[in-house]
Amino acid sequence: SLQVDAAGETKSIPDTMHGVFFEDINDAADGGIYAELVRNRSFEYDTVDNPSYTPMTGWSTTSVGGAEGSAEVVDDAQRLNENNRRYLRLRPNARGRAAYGVTNAGYHSGMSLERGEKYDFSIWARSDQPGGTPLTVTATDGSGSPVGRTMRIRVRGDQWTEYSETFVAHSDTNTGGLRVLGHGSGTVRLDMVSLFPRDTFKGEPNGLREDLASKIEALNPGFLRFPGGCLVNTGSHESYQAPDWERRRSYQWKDTVGPVEQRPTNANFWGYNQSYGLGFYEYFRFAENIGAMPLPVVPALVTGCGEDEATDDPQLLRRHIQDTLDLIQFANGSVDTEWGGKRAAMGHPEPFGLTHLAVGNEENLPEEFYERFEKFRDAIEQRYPGITVVANSGPDDSGATFERAWELAREQNAEMVDEHYYNNPRWFLENNRRYDSYDRSGPKVSLTEYASEGNEFYNALVEASFMTGLERNADVVRMSSYAPLLAHEDDPQWTPDMIWFDNHRSWGSASYEAQKLFGNNVGDEVVPSEASSTPVEEKPISGAVGLSTWNTSAAYDDVRVTSADGETLLADDFSGDASKWSELTGTGDWSIENGSYVQSDASVQNTMVTAGDENWSDYDLNLTATKRAG
Ligand code: AHR
Repeated sequence: SLQVDAAGETKSIPDTMHGVFFEDINDAADGGIYAELVRNRSFEYDTVDNPSYTPMTGWSTTSVGGAEGSAEVVDDAQRLNENNRRYLRLRPNARGRAAYGVTNAGYHSGMSLERGEKYDFSIWARSDQPGGTPLTVTATDGSGSPVGRTMRIRVRGDQWTEYSETFVAHSDTNTGGLRVLGHGSGTVRLDMVSLFPRDTFKGEPNGLREDLASKIEALNPGFLRFPGGCLVNTGSHESYQAPDWERRRSYQWKDTVGPVEQRPTNANFWGYNQSYGLGFYEYFRFAENIGAMPLPVVPALVTGCGEDEATDDPQLLRRHIQDTLDLIQFANGSVDTEWGGKRAAMGHPEPFGLTHLAVGNEENLPEEFYERFEKFRDAIEQRYPGITVVANSGPDDSGATFERAWELAREQNAEMVDEHYYNNPRWFLENNRRYDSYDRSGPKVSLTEYASEGNEFYNALVEASFMTGLERNADVVRMSSYAPLLAHEDDPQWTPDMIWFDNHRSWGSASYEAQKLFGNNVGDEVVPSEASSTPVEEKPISGAVGLSTWNTSAAYDDVRVTSADGETLLADDFSGDASKWSELTGTGDWSIENGSYVQSDASVQNTMVTAGDENWSDYDLNLTATKRAG
């Protein structure tokens, strides 16, 4: 039964109640929503980004008609610019119709090209030949047959110049590539080889993949948090002072704006290279295009995400604070300001209307974090008093770090504190009332990362149930978003995820549908109500046993859970295949509920082990199973 107190005091629900958090994890950006089809377009891939990379990753040499030649990635004074340091030095030795060059294989299984669609090709090049160097460029299918006309370009002059061409695909492929061939002889230098579908989301140049961006838009998100996540803070305490081109530095928003050919690439926290083609300007545009409030996150100089380090370098701190002030100017400043002018030069003279900004992500060191947070916040408040600066409470839903972070947030009068948690479905059911008891006069909550462990209908159901608790507490919880948002099916570093994709398809999980339902039906006011029911069977259930992996894949065998008194609660010797999850059989009071194990009369705490290598080893997970009365 549901009792509604129509005359009771209502709480208004903000438009930002349900939003999205975009992080470049699981190939969400390059090879994902960023519509560029050429992988390693600027030849900047490096083993420091991933041990399997070389500067030729994505590329292979191609000879036509018996031509000879050489194709080498070099970093010398002839470079395109100081940020984009490497280029391809192509030396064809080809007469007549023969040609020598390179082919790009795109991301994962190749480029997806669709019959009847227009594609925009561009390249930066220079030639040392007095008459120039002819290039022929062809998009091909997996067998090397053309899927569009061959484009002809004559590279003239020994200064870097951008050339562009367009073609319409005359057949479909999902395993396509792009062939760039040099004719004649001499040296032609190539860089920023790019191929985009014309049909990007809302037709934006340097734009986003239509299907993925539309799926996000369909969520009707109240805000867009970007660009991370762990992506943002890791490394922020160290290498800013390094030469501007040094790799593996922290994520710095200034690296991601301006002409794409002048943006450096960087190692991504999640183990691959990030091109920064999808940068802060594109994020702001995306937010604007989908009617979402932009919520950028900047590093706080205290790392989280598995590292516990903080810098004391005052110069570094000043620089990051100044960068944050410059970010606000980039978003909101008039065209006469330095950074507002840069925004205008990129095509957006009107301000983006930034109102919220988050400093830091999941810092494990609350003292160090809040010491720095206060400095950021005070500097921002002084210069831009209208901006809400969001603090955070570390990586957990409770515990000493969490408690201390909240204490400091209250002491510092932080306006809003970010919470993150990834827990089992049971936790979400048990915590529906989590925010009922939060202090109404303290900082507000932005819950910008949560998900129940699993990608099944049951997960969507418990998340939806939990979201009713968020809405009921809309006076405290002002923002919430499921995470992660996107995952390429061939390279997930983290599961579950909301939207999955390959190179031409995308599909939402059940959780996606729950988010869409709530995002498109945000109420204006919460009216007090009480729901009650008589369960068919009174059976207290708490805790779940799950095996999950973080940032890698793993295999399991011979799983056994024993209670403190020696009773085997769960055992299975399944053959090391996590997809056989549902084949596990429980004993005693255990039962299977939607693919995860739920014990009917015990609670089990999360425990983590780190598997050292690929050999089978025996790990003891000191699970605590507590028998409950009844
Ligand atoms: O969403 C995936 C990761 O989870 C984020 O990078 C981090 O903030 C959290 O630990």
